[in-house]
Amino acid sequence: MNSPVRERTERSSTATGPVRGVGRAHAKAILLGEHTVVHGTPAIAFPLPTLSVRAIARPGAPGGVLEIPEGHFGFVAGNPNAAENTLSGPRVAVEEALRRWGLTGQIAEVVMECDIPLARGLGSSAACAGAAVRAVADLHGRTVDAATLYELVQCGEQVAHGRASGIDASAVLADGPIRFHEGTATALDIGLDAALVIADTGVPGSTQHAVAGVRRTLDHDPRAARRVLSRAGELISGAAADLSTGNAPSLGQVMLDFQDLLAELGVSTPHIDTLVAAALDAGAYGAKLTGAGLGGCVLALTETGDARTVSAALRRAGAVQTWTVPTRGLRSSAQPPSAPTSEHGVNP
Ligand code: PMV
Repeated sequence: MNSPVRERTERSSTATGPVRGVGRAHAKAILLGEHTVVHGTPAIAFPLPTLSVRAIARPGAPGGVLEIPEGHFGFVAGNPNAAENTLSGPRVAVEEALRRWGLTGQIAEVVMECDIPLARGLGSSAACAGAAVRAVADLHGRTVDAATLYELVQCGEQVAHGRASGIDASAVLADGPIRFHEGTATALDIGLDAALVIADTGVPGSTQHAVAGVRRTLDHDPRAARRVLSRAGELISGAAADLSTGNAPSLGQVMLDFQDLLAELGVSTPHIDTLVAAALDAGAYGAKLTGAGLGGCVLALTETGDARTVSAALRRAGAVQTWTVPTRGLRSSAQPPSAPTSEHGVNP
């Protein structure tokens, strides 16, 4: 069980300016275990601090009109008359926070500037929820411990995913790589000196749709489901050892084997397969989709010196943007956020 940590909030109200609260969170990438984590396997994920979301919260009024600057997103929380919008996950998270703080009836206007591409498997919905809750906490002078913040983000994620494992909520609030299992995150040792290249297919994927499709596939053939989930568990254990000992060729093979499982679960696409093949042709150790799939992003593991070549190959093969993350920059997180006890996991 992880003990809760006090989250620092940056209160930004001034004597002269209007009262407002600010909050931030960052993107994440899942190295291994997407989808199977919903069905009880562990998963491995790491934060992407260079892709972040910054939220500003202000008090709202009934009937007030939210002004959203171009290129930003926004929503109104706590106003039963506000129109439903695509940010329903973050809004649900903020409304749950207001309820827990005894502030039901308070209206909060939240505007966000987000570097994270939406619906690409990089955790934009969880990051927006995390930043929004932090901003509203700051607005009301509240401190939120890490376990509570995780729970609030999870409330939003259940709306966004249908049934969320909690890995996104944990990884977008974590400082370092995590192993996530049944609602509990633990910091992961990284002894690997390589690079991860993330390539955006440019195609938005629906997590809810993908998660529902995988559930149907698993329910349809329970024997195949047991085999896939057991193989996924083996691969993830092997990967944790490879990350710690720095065995990039072995980890690359694990990624390819996991990609085969994800394809069997029906969440790969021809575009994803093309990007995986392009990364391998350019010398990557391995590659796979990351996140829910059916679009979204591909993650490739390469030698640091080959990252530019792999990135260029991915763009030539149709990626609309790429990001490179050196694995040695992934430092361990002392206490990654997760549920206060494993009872809060959503494992069936
Ligand atoms: O929303 P995404 O694309 O980051 O995917 C989340 C990971 C899943 O395993 C597909 C869903 C979950 O809740 O774990």
